[in-house]
Amino acid sequence: MGTIEVTKLTKRYGDHNAVDGLDLSIEDGQFITLLGPSGCGKTTTLRMLAGFIRPDEGTITVDGCELSSPARVVPPEERGMGMVFQNYALWPHKTVYHNVAYGLRMQRPRLARKEIRARVGAMLEVVSLPGFEDRFPGQLSGGQQQRVALARSLVTEPSILLLDEPLSNLDAKLRDRMREEVQEIQRRTDITFVYVTHDQGEAMSMSDRIAVMSSGRLEQFAAPRQVYHRPANVAVADFMGLVNLLQGRVVSVDRPAAAVEVVLAFGTRLRLGLTDGTTVFVGDDVTVAIRPENVTVRRSADAGEALVADVTHTTMLGHLCYYVLDLAGTTLRVQTASDVELDRGDRVSVDIDERHASVFPAEVDAESAIEEERV
Ligand SMILES: Nc1ncnc2c1ncn2[C@@H]1O[C@H](COP(=O)(O)OP(=O)(O)O)[C@@H](O)[C@H]1O
Ligand SMILES: [Mg+2]
Repeated sequence: MGTIEVTKLTKRYGDHNAVDGLDLSIEDGQFITLLGPSGCGKTTTLRMLAGFIRPDEGTITVDGCELSSPARVVPPEERGMGMVFQNYALWPHKTVYHNVAYGLRMQRPRLARKEIRARVGAMLEVVSLPGFEDRFPGQLSGGQQQRVALARSLVTEPSILLLDEPLSNLDAKLRDRMREEVQEIQRRTDITFVYVTHDQGEAMSMSDRIAVMSSGRLEQFAAPRQVYHRPANVAVADFMGLVNLLQGRVVSVDRPAAAVEVVLAFGTRLRLGLTDGTTVFVGDDVTVAIRPENVTVRRSADAGEALVADVTHTTMLGHLCYYVLDLAGTTLRVQTASDVELDRGDRVSVDIDERHASVFPAEVDAESAIEEERV
């Protein structure tokens, strides 16, 4: 079992809240990811889960049993949790077998040598490294070392595995492959994984649910699709990949349908669905978030009623193309399949897919997010 309940968890360093009133409910057997920029409090949260850091406020409960509170912290070795780090932390002078067997050999009452052998062998199968027992870490690739580290943490059958940026030392191609493997290992073992990363792609490709954090606070806790397509606020929308943040004003509100009509700065009228928890009124200034892939462009001068824009920048990414458009003074980023070939200076007509746009009450710094050159 590995059901985790985190309530109002807070950790201060001086007058800085590294983790600030965090609430999280994690179901048994789920793969959940703490995602956010560097310094947002991910590692501090994970270390409180592991029992290395005492919270200043709040509690951590696993399967109904309180493990952390300001008054009492159950030590790490009594929590039945495993931990995997960025730097693998394998013993260089021990073979793969002895690295993986270590936790089992420490168990009291002692396990029979035959049982240890069998469990190490089975775990090396799980991480796709059978036959590697006699190698030393120095004789393995980075990806293989990280799989040994996973095997070592999993062999003692923890109810929860905590992973802190375990793939960030690997090169890009290997990292992509390891994503699938880590996810596969979680499925095979059915252990609750709490995974920490600052990489949205990693979080989206592996997790059942993502906890998006910023400045020690939880911004949203939801399935990847939800976080990406229905971000809770501008900060989440902006962090989950490239997004156009456009200024507009609400001209009508359809409460029963939870929809609004918004006029954008360049005069376009959009009908948009409201995300749960968002309240806006007629006349409100709003920020409309639209992903580059939800804008379509066509090369046509006779656009009629469509929006017309000029291509100011093009980036070819193999299977995809990114374009920066100037739409009556507003910058709009667009992504298309690479067979739509546009050049700088081309005049295009633009269509915004209303179904995938989100609307939020206007924030002061929304403008600066657009200014940033990120393509
Ligand atoms: N031991 C510490 N002493 C003082 N400040 C710390 C300590 N550990 C972390 N912090 C601060 O707490 C914040 C969160 O850190 P951390 O949890 O490591 O972030 P993340 O893992 O998301 O990058 C940062 O501002 C960091 O500088
Ligand atoms: Mg960290």
